[in-house]
Amino acid sequence: MKLAIFGTGYVGLVSGACLAEVGHDVLCMDVDQAKIDQLRAGTIPIWEPGLQPIVERNLAEGRLRFTTDTAEAVRHADVQFIAVGTPPDEDGSADLQHVLAVAEEIARHMPAYRVIVNKSTVPAGTAEKVAERIAQVLAARGEAIAFDVVSNPEFLKEGAAVADFLKPDRILVGTRSARAQERMREIYEPFNRNHERTLFTDVRSAELTKYAANAMLATRISFMNELANLAERLDADIEEVRKGIGADPRIGYHFIYPGCGYGGSCFPKDVQALGRIADQVGYDAPLLRAVETVNQRQKNTLFAKLAGHFGGPEGLAGRTVAVWGLAFKPNTDDLREAPSRSLIEALWQHGAHVQAYDPVAMDEMRRLYGPRADLALASNKYSVLEGADALAICTEWQQFRAPDFDEMAALLQTRVIADGRNLYNPERLRAAGWHYYSVGRPAVA
Ligand code: UDX
Repeated sequence: MKLAIFGTGYVGLVSGACLAEVGHDVLCMDVDQAKIDQLRAGTIPIWEPGLQPIVERNLAEGRLRFTTDTAEAVRHADVQFIAVGTPPDEDGSADLQHVLAVAEEIARHMPAYRVIVNKSTVPAGTAEKVAERIAQVLAARGEAIAFDVVSNPEFLKEGAAVADFLKPDRILVGTRSARAQERMREIYEPFNRNHERTLFTDVRSAELTKYAANAMLATRISFMNELANLAERLDADIEEVRKGIGADPRIGYHFIYPGCGYGGSCFPKDVQALGRIADQVGYDAPLLRAVETVNQRQKNTLFAKLAGHFGGPEGLAGRTVAVWGLAFKPNTDDLREAPSRSLIEALWQHGAHVQAYDPVAMDEMRRLYGPRADLALASNKYSVLEGADALAICTEWQQFRAPDFDEMAALLQTRVIADGRNLYNPERLRAAGWHYYSVGRPAVA
């Protein structure tokens, strides 16, 4: 099938490449000429495992193409995906201006029936706004062309987006139009071979489902972080508690890992946006507010632990803290809302120096903060420790799981670790003479 995708950001590019991979003829459109030129040359602007070979292969075989020409994209296919950003505006609501602008462009150029599929994360009711906007433009053109607007949110995890797209848990399609359903069935047919994964629903429920999924996952994390803080005060071990509750199949083991807070482009933004949606319909949603508040507090936990060790926040002035892991989670270079940033900014505020290392996010770190006297970026996990007073761990990259503690001790000034991901056995570190602070477990001070 011929498909057009508007937006070559994270969602648009992964979707476009994976839809081409199963044989569709995909044209991706973006207004950013430089980005399109790069993509045409096979250069990918994001770090995502497995994406590069798929883009290269499908470019070479002609199933994946890129353009900046809106009219060409609208002519190319009768299914048009919208995958542009919905960044938070000042009050945290999803900003729909890009989605609506694309809808207008499609309406301006559509020659015949089109299915407009919204992949961007948008509040319930957006499909209706998109339909209204298209109808207005068509009326101004004096054309009576039929169209359907479908909600088809994505559930891609960064770092596993290609696998998530090619082997989805479910494909959610919000539309009651039989004509649009038929098109969507055909597009996703290759992903439903072994068993049916597509859930057809009404458009508003599909829109809300995306927020519901992310808010539920974020709630589990904040809940565990709250319990971890309680466990610390009760001299209990949250890791034991985690296993104990995870064994209950109603709870399960997924997404109950305590840590230094969730980050990324989705959870913080979507929990906030859902809160604003609740406000707009006059519903007080205290649980959603709490999920966010607990997370903000949790992002401060490593700073609090380091400050505690050095006799209060003032004790950090002039000290050097090494940081392992900057990305908001492993296998990505994404630093959006990353807990590492809250820690590092708090350290700077209190006059500490930071030496940082991340296996892939160093360029992103440089881009965000530029050169600073109180930031040194190291080339590996050991050199970053040289002369530092303590190590803080923000991301659970595999290479941090079994380090050489003797080598670490030789490089650091003092044997202090504040671990935001509970990577090590506290007893073993105690025996080796470390001060080891982790999350929700008795400290080894
Ligand atoms: C998330 C959703 O998982 C995905 O379905 C949606 O489409 C987009 O948002 P992503 O932001 O890529 O994906 O990351 P995810 O793997 O879900 O992790 C989010 C954050 O939660 C990370 O900072 C991670 O460290 C944290 N986390 C996750 C925990 O602190 N504890 C856990 O148990 C799980």
